[in-house]
Amino acid sequence: MARFETTPSRPYHLVIFGASGFTGQFVVEEVARTVSEGPQGTLKWAVAGRSRQKLEQVLEQAAGVLGKPELRSEVDIIVADVAEPDSLAAMCKQAVIVLNCVGPYRFYGEPVVKACVENGAHHIDISGEPQFLEGMQLNYNSQAADKGVYIIGSCGFDSIPADMGVLYTRDQLKGTLTAVESFLTVKAGSDGGCIHDGTWQSAVHGFADSQSLQSVRRKFNHKPLPVVGSKLKRRGALFFSNDIQQYTVPFMGSDPSVVKRTQRYLFEEYQATPVQYGAYAGIGSIGNVIKLMFAGLMFWFLVKFSFGRDLLIKHPEFFSFGLFSKAGPSRKQMEDSSFQFAFYGEGYTEGQDPTQGKPNSKIRTVVQGPECGYVATPIFMVQAALTLLNESAALPKTGGVYTPGAAFARTTLIDRLNKHGIQFSVI
Ligand SMILES: NC(=O)c1ccc[n+]([C@@H]2O[C@H](COP(=O)([O-])OP(=O)(O)OC[C@H]3O[C@@H](n4cnc5c(N)ncnc54)[C@H](OP(=O)(O)O)[C@@H]3O)[C@@H](O)[C@H]2O)c1
Repeated sequence: MARFETTPSRPYHLVIFGASGFTGQFVVEEVARTVSEGPQGTLKWAVAGRSRQKLEQVLEQAAGVLGKPELRSEVDIIVADVAEPDSLAAMCKQAVIVLNCVGPYRFYGEPVVKACVENGAHHIDISGEPQFLEGMQLNYNSQAADKGVYIIGSCGFDSIPADMGVLYTRDQLKGTLTAVESFLTVKAGSDGGCIHDGTWQSAVHGFADSQSLQSVRRKFNHKPLPVVGSKLKRRGALFFSNDIQQYTVPFMGSDPSVVKRTQRYLFEEYQATPVQYGAYAGIGSIGNVIKLMFAGLMFWFLVKFSFGRDLLIKHPEFFSFGLFSKAGPSRKQMEDSSFQFAFYGEGYTEGQDPTQGKPNSKIRTVVQGPECGYVATPIFMVQAALTLLNESAALPKTGGVYTPGAAFARTTLIDRLNKHGIQFSVI
């Protein structure tokens, strides 16, 4: 039986683990902004990490930024280290939900998931690492189901906009959606923008160890999902998109893997028509194409060797042409940045048999919002947690390891996001 209420021995609705990290600090601010959206209009929460001193600094900073001096004294601190299982167990026993911001998840994630499952805490992460996400599903789904614990991965920019965007597009089409392509564009202001080193490290190690993902997938031994409607053609490695007026490449992140898992779950659980999905990202002008090719070639070469990975990890700015940095973006850079996912869907009008003839209906939707890594991601993560706390009746019947789409398809997560500056709309 899943539990969503606090008790005297489990006093916190949310514990933010890794609150001292670059992303964690913004999750702390977002939780502090949204306490009134908790059950009965309150939210009891604490911060956790391996350094009390750093956690105190994070609360001090949030108190200053938000003009909430009470954060300094009213938010509890839990010291927990991934390397010390007892400390993780003690943390998980006190939390209804652990918001896990400690990455790379391939190194630090599993002990936290295990501790959550064993100690009855739900778990929400912002991993964009398919090997970790699918590995957790393989290894913990049935234990989590037995314990009534929801482990919901990829609840950040990876991959809520893509996963919920496909479901939104499906729900807006009057008929049956059979295929969607998404095109991501990111805008920065005059100071430019960048992504923090934590995500760079996750990417370097993820690409270096892509065989493990194949091995996890073989263990699932899934049958291919049925193709309904015209088979979605894969586009080339580089093309000019007239839709977004930019050079475009296949999106290398976790979105395709997450969307596919959601579609499989909805097909197997509810016999929903599986939607085929292709993910692309705009990279801008021909100058960026040249930079990307150069950076991509160096990356692919270096990531194969341990000395190459060390070089990549030591010099993110150099090897990514400034896209990633150890300092992360400034608040000004974040304020001036935004993202947009454009979804181009096709399917069949109501009453039209999707197994007969070609698709006869098209739809275009958009998901757009603020800077993706450290403004939108905390909003996605915190709204996912508030949905879990407030809408337990709309979740899958049993606990388990879920994608955002599988967990939240029947909830009001999209409405909640719309109220927090992430707009889902039909164009
Ligand atoms: N989905 C998305 O769109 C999205 C967006 C942003 C970030 N992310 C992901 O979030 C993760 C964190 O990124 P970041 O840039 O915030 O990284 P970061 O600044 O390096 O933060 C890592 C956090 O993990 C903590 N940590 C490391 N080892 C630990 C241990 N043994 N025990 C307890 N805590 C430990 C660090 O604590 P200390 O402060 O004590 O070192 C820090 O709080 C990455 O995997 C990144 O890819 C995803």
